[in-house]
Amino acid sequence: MMKILIVGSGGREHAIAAAVAKSPRADKIYCAPGNAGIGQIAECVPIGAMEFDKLVAFAKEKAIDLTIVGMDDPLVGGLVDEMEAAGLRVFGPRKNAAILEGSKAFSKDLMKKYNIPTAAYENFDDPQKALAYLETAKMPVVLKADGLALGKGVLICETLEEAKEGVRTIMEDKKFGAAGNRMVIEEFMTGREVSVLSFVDGRTIKIMSSAQDHKRALDGDQGLNTGGMGTFSPSPFYTDEVDAFCHKYIYQATVDAMAAEGRPFKGVIFFGLMLTEDGPKVLEYNARFGDPEAQVVLPRMKNDMIDVVEACIDGNLDRMELSFEDNAAVCVILASEGYPVSYEKGFAIEGLENFENKEGYYCFHAGTSLNNDTIVTNGGRVLGVTAKGVTLKEARANAYAATDWIHFDNKYMRHDIGKAIDEV
Ligand code: AMP
Ligand code: GLY
Repeated sequence: MMKILIVGSGGREHAIAAAVAKSPRADKIYCAPGNAGIGQIAECVPIGAMEFDKLVAFAKEKAIDLTIVGMDDPLVGGLVDEMEAAGLRVFGPRKNAAILEGSKAFSKDLMKKYNIPTAAYENFDDPQKALAYLETAKMPVVLKADGLALGKGVLICETLEEAKEGVRTIMEDKKFGAAGNRMVIEEFMTGREVSVLSFVDGRTIKIMSSAQDHKRALDGDQGLNTGGMGTFSPSPFYTDEVDAFCHKYIYQATVDAMAAEGRPFKGVIFFGLMLTEDGPKVLEYNARFGDPEAQVVLPRMKNDMIDVVEACIDGNLDRMELSFEDNAAVCVILASEGYPVSYEKGFAIEGLENFENKEGYYCFHAGTSLNNDTIVTNGGRVLGVTAKGVTLKEARANAYAATDWIHFDNKYMRHDIGKAIDEV
């Protein structure tokens, strides 16, 4: 029986905690810092995800058997290295491998060096050179701040003027902070996007069921980019042919490239793919589960989460088969009106009890907290309502029906999550 610590506080960490809680091997689950929903299945400890010394001390004091790091910042900052140095068992990439997400310039150079299909690009650390390059670039063009920027460091520019302004915003005004010390300028691609999450043990990679995210705030993919307003899994666009191509040219190639660079990757690689006319290409890598992708993928996974995570740590993933339920899941994010710009917090949330003991329905907490004994809204993305169904269409109907079970002031959601599926 094991004591497990999960690091993070969003819907993704709630989904991870729920998967761990299903394992008969889990004895006690802690989450740092967690949230009100996670607190119903784990003990939340008030330590921030970037407080490495405190996390290490806590894990030692409680004799934690396994730590799972959910978030990108602590991974890129080297939490895994610090925990390993203290003799702790921890799931996630070390700092030198998390750079796959932490630096877009690094990941682009890696793909170029190892012939992994991606958009054509150039890296810049001098704004003058970037501006000069734009004069010759074909519009639209995509600008990316090199470092972590909460998913907001990507600008798609239609005109030369816009692009120049974008370079200044990223590299001179430092809108995304130090993330903009370097930047990538890349070719604009068109096609459908698919998210593929995978488990990796340094050598072997096993793919999870595909998913798709809806990043824009408003129906019809309008409005500002957000952390994600909903997801569905699997993606009907992720066909056997796409899967075969990605296995051949992208997945193992990425893992082998990292090993060859002396940066073996253990943990979760999230492939953001675009299915272009010239075949699938990598938009980006993340070094962790997607949020909200984890909320539709993990509930469908049949394997014991702890077994899989340990196989990654111990390097025996080759002996394991991942299996997923032959169904579908849809997650609709219930957000606070005004997200992602400005919104009010602190409203009581009603109806959470409707999800208790409802097979195939989940209410993952993202931005919630406890105010006396009441669970209140505490963020832009508040809850992720997930439901399964035999088909995507049924899962979508179930998920939207379940959004009615929850009430809070300023509740906002998109109404077309998973709707693209009606086209196929
Ligand atoms: P990223 O953080 O790199 O995934 O970029 C965020 C979003 O920007 C992606 O999900 C795409 O919708 C879009 N995007 C990024 N790179 C490109 C590209 N080269 N062409 C078109 N869209 C892109
Ligand atoms: N849903 C996209 C991400 O987790 O980065």
